[in-house]
Amino acid sequence: MAGSSVRGGSNCPPLFVTEKPTRMARYAYRLFASTVLAGVLLVWLYRATHVPPMSSGARWWAWLGLSAAELWFGFYWVLTLSVRWSPVFRRAFPDQLLRRYKEEQLPGVDIFVCTADPTVEPPMLVISTVLSVMAYDYPKEKLNIYLSDDAGSIITLYALYEASEFAKHWLPFCNKYQVEPRSPAAYFGTEASPPDACDRKEWFSLKEMHKDLAARVNSVVNSGKIPEVSKCKLMGFSRWSENASFRDHPSIVQILIDGNKRKATDVDGKVLPTLVYMAREKRPQEHHHFKAGSLNALIRVSSVISNSPVIMNVDCDMYSNNSGSIRDALCFFQDEQLGQDIAFVQYPQNFENVVQNDIYGNPINTVNELDHPCLDGWGGMCYYGTGCFHRREALCGRIYSPDYKEDWTRVARKTEDVIDLEGMAESLVTCTYEHNTLWGVEKGVIYGCPLEDVITGLQIQCRGWRSVYHNPPRKGFLGMAPTSLGQILVQHKRWTEGFLQISLSKYSPFLLGHRKISLGLQMGYSVCGFWAANSFPTLYYVTIPSLCFLNGISLFPEITSPWFVPFAYVAVAAYSCSLVESLQCGDTAVEWWNAQRMWLFRRITSYLLAAIDTIRRMLGVTESGFTLTAKVTDPRALERYKKGMMEFGSFSVMFAIITTVALLNLACMMLGVAKVLLRKGAVSLGAMFVQAVLCALIVAINFPVYEAMFVRKDSGRLPASVSVVSLCIVLPFCILPTKL
Ligand SMILES: *[C@@H]1O[C@H](CO)[C@@H](O)[C@H](O)[C@H]1NC(C)=O
Repeated sequence: MAGSSVRGGSNCPPLFVTEKPTRMARYAYRLFASTVLAGVLLVWLYRATHVPPMSSGARWWAWLGLSAAELWFGFYWVLTLSVRWSPVFRRAFPDQLLRRYKEEQLPGVDIFVCTADPTVEPPMLVISTVLSVMAYDYPKEKLNIYLSDDAGSIITLYALYEASEFAKHWLPFCNKYQVEPRSPAAYFGTEASPPDACDRKEWFSLKEMHKDLAARVNSVVNSGKIPEVSKCKLMGFSRWSENASFRDHPSIVQILIDGNKRKATDVDGKVLPTLVYMAREKRPQEHHHFKAGSLNALIRVSSVISNSPVIMNVDCDMYSNNSGSIRDALCFFQDEQLGQDIAFVQYPQNFENVVQNDIYGNPINTVNELDHPCLDGWGGMCYYGTGCFHRREALCGRIYSPDYKEDWTRVARKTEDVIDLEGMAESLVTCTYEHNTLWGVEKGVIYGCPLEDVITGLQIQCRGWRSVYHNPPRKGFLGMAPTSLGQILVQHKRWTEGFLQISLSKYSPFLLGHRKISLGLQMGYSVCGFWAANSFPTLYYVTIPSLCFLNGISLFPEITSPWFVPFAYVAVAAYSCSLVESLQCGDTAVEWWNAQRMWLFRRITSYLLAAIDTIRRMLGVTESGFTLTAKVTDPRALERYKKGMMEFGSFSVMFAIITTVALLNLACMMLGVAKVLLRKGAVSLGAMFVQAVLCALIVAINFPVYEAMFVRKDSGRLPASVSVVSLCIVLPFCILPTKL
């Protein structure tokens, strides 16, 4: 991908470079895209000029719908061009940073970790993430870690307290042996024996210590009781009253390690990073705005304790897999020529638990390696709420101005007295603090819309800032991907609804971004914004042509007709291009095929239900609540995932839709082929060719559904109730053929 690179015009070497694909590659892609566009236009032309007479009834209606679907697909494809047009790839040079700035000149960094529910996000998971970010390769006195506990759980505080003790051993160990990754759970989970460089005794004693830590924390999780010994050591535990619940408690801020105090040192006598626990006040009558609310609370709490110019936030289930990420990110902010207007540096999302040839198409390599670099190319990688470094000023609402120079080394601690400091911080995170302020409107993370992260990022860009996407070979953060079909589809439904609501609101990229960000970027944002709109055309395309095939209604040009060429070209070109892209980005062919299946499933379930629910809400009807699926944490389900078996298990409307489409196409294919053969019609086969291929492809991609329905016996198979419902829907279509 190496090609021309853009540099600032000065003597000092830049801290980062931006690489583009070679000019040849870019023009080749654009040439290819224009041929596809020509094909799309010809398809539209064919649809417009060959409309069957209205008297043909069913055929006329089917034709009309198909034309509308193709019109939409063509339009959407043009929209997606924006995320293929001009990718840029960033490379950071942390060595140069080291040469240019002394340690004292580096900015402080505040790291925010958010957790919301100790049952879904077990405390051990949370503190592994906290420990991984405490152990960043960065001057510890400049590092401040804040944990927001939205459940206000004393057990989380206990776990964090244990983590602060363990850190005294873990941090020097990481430093001494350059341990990677620095999440102890991930490290000891993968390394079975000490590496050669390590002192064996030290390694085993640390591993033992970690095991004890896990045992202690898990026993407290199980019993729900804090040991008396710990209660004496940390005042914070006395703050929980009997009747405090996660929705009703005062604000609590606890500084567990105060990096400013010399006595807060590790076993080697070195300073430790500051570690703060925060649970903002919650009252049942006050809206808390979920994660956006807790991020804004953290911004304020940190402003009196450390007020670092750089803020990083990460979800509690995404640990740092690269101890150099802070220095990498700073290369972007601190480059004097190119970094002045950069508001945030977003790292990609990567998953630790995804297996080879994942059945759910989880590796999102084309998104990470191509879509995001293209958004970056338009000057505006989106912010997606985790694994992101922010400039505090930009996040707090500052409008970009070229004259503004950041003071990277400012320190601002309001008072040296820890008790006072905690009190001051607590007063900033009461329920009523934000009343009649700009928090959530102009300052901090925006409230009142789903996907507040994306909107926040967009608004920062509209204030004149740029953002960059940094995707180094060794990934910065690793999280957990959902590994059951139900979870994935429900998650996508939520996102799709969020994006759709944004598109229909005043935050729509076309409205909010008008004249503020480039058209390409507006389009890039809208690719997700219009996910939901794909649902109806896709559902139409995978049912009506097959039904017409069964009934001998031809909807596509004959194979011998010249009009066949644009149809074939568009389909073949678009899919081979997508396959090649996938392979280039590191997927396997099987993963690509699986991703195509998920593409279909998401469009006919998540997107469809999201669209329906949004329409219902706009009409003032209550939401359907269609999407109740149990969270699957069954170990056997995990085994099945590893074997590449799709997880169904319980009844769900989503599964019923998928099964119905799969069954319908199977029936249409078998009965349709039988009919064509009986009529001995080489002629009719010619006219039906496209529909036959389409139907066969849909059957082929649904193979795992038939397997789950007819073959499998395990508990993750399709429940009989789903099969019966689908069968009842499909049967009438098979026995009652419409009149020709
Ligand atoms: C995570 O870090 C480990 C150890 O440093 C490395 O081997 C691995 O490749 C990293 N994972 C990813 C996905 O980059």
